[in-house]
Amino acid sequence: MLTKAMLSLSWCPSCRAAGLEFQSNAPAADDLSEGKLVCPNCKIIFPVHDGVPDLIPHDQMTSEDWKTWGGHLDGFSGRRAIREKKPNLAQLKRWNAKQQAFLNFVDAPEGHLLDIGCGPAGIREGLDPARTTYFGIDPIPTRAVEEFPFARAVAEYIPFRDEAFSCLVARSALDHFCDLRGFFKEAARVLRPDGVMFIEQAIHGEGGLKGAIKAAVHETKDFLDDLKATRAHREAPKHMTDFTKEYLIEAVSEFFTVTATREYSPSLLAATQLFMALRRKN
Ligand SMILES: C[S@@+](CC[C@H](N)C(=O)[O-])C[C@H]1O[C@@H](n2cnc3c(N)ncnc32)[C@H](O)[C@@H]1O
Ligand SMILES: [Zn+2]
Repeated sequence: MLTKAMLSLSWCPSCRAAGLEFQSNAPAADDLSEGKLVCPNCKIIFPVHDGVPDLIPHDQMTSEDWKTWGGHLDGFSGRRAIREKKPNLAQLKRWNAKQQAFLNFVDAPEGHLLDIGCGPAGIREGLDPARTTYFGIDPIPTRAVEEFPFARAVAEYIPFRDEAFSCLVARSALDHFCDLRGFFKEAARVLRPDGVMFIEQAIHGEGGLKGAIKAAVHETKDFLDDLKATRAHREAPKHMTDFTKEYLIEAVSEFFTVTATREYSPSLLAATQLFMALRRKN
């Protein structure tokens, strides 16, 4: 939901000017639930509905790559709806264990934290609100968004001011982004110079028998998912990028230095997750 703290950190994702203005017809000045955010510079209007500001800069996202991403996101959201209707308890248990391992890696960060591609914002519950002020962005709002500062937004056009956050998090999200370089550039912009970014990402392409088994399981899972999906969803890419460890390290290196890594691989049938802690270069 839109909060005063978010307003004070806001930034126009279209023209990159700081400070959006909230306008509404609501009688109470502190009611931020319905209205619009207006950029004082380019005058573009971003709607606010049910407390959720929509800060996706559609005017910037007109390339073929963004069209492909739109199809990908529809497919992802269709698969998530299926999963939410019929939750798989074993899968949820594995997901929670992975989340706890990530929280241990992150180790109680302090200050303003932005979770990019936050989804249902699961890690929020594992953070101490006295230490960490949690904010989330995602193009798809999930059910809990009225409980914390949240905006519909994309990683490539982060709607917050320069150096607004002491911690950034992107969990299982990088493979869904459209423009990785655009994301890392934005992440370096909104992170304080002494801040830290934590990434969690499934990696593929490991060598040996272990790598071959994991690759076969990954492909089988995708195949089974396709059987459940509609035709249009089947045609869109499942992930915008598939990462190997080497490619991920190379992708971060223009704007970030890797300060710590940990591999999380609870079983032979699950993709290995790479946790990374990153510091801004310069
Ligand atoms: C696999 S989910 C992970 C959600 C959450 N981080 C978690 O660990 O539970 C990937 C998320 O990335 C979001 N996403 C897709 N494209 C994005 C983009 N360009 N910018 C930000 N988030 C994006 C999706 O909507 C989805 O919620
Ligand atoms: Zn603007």
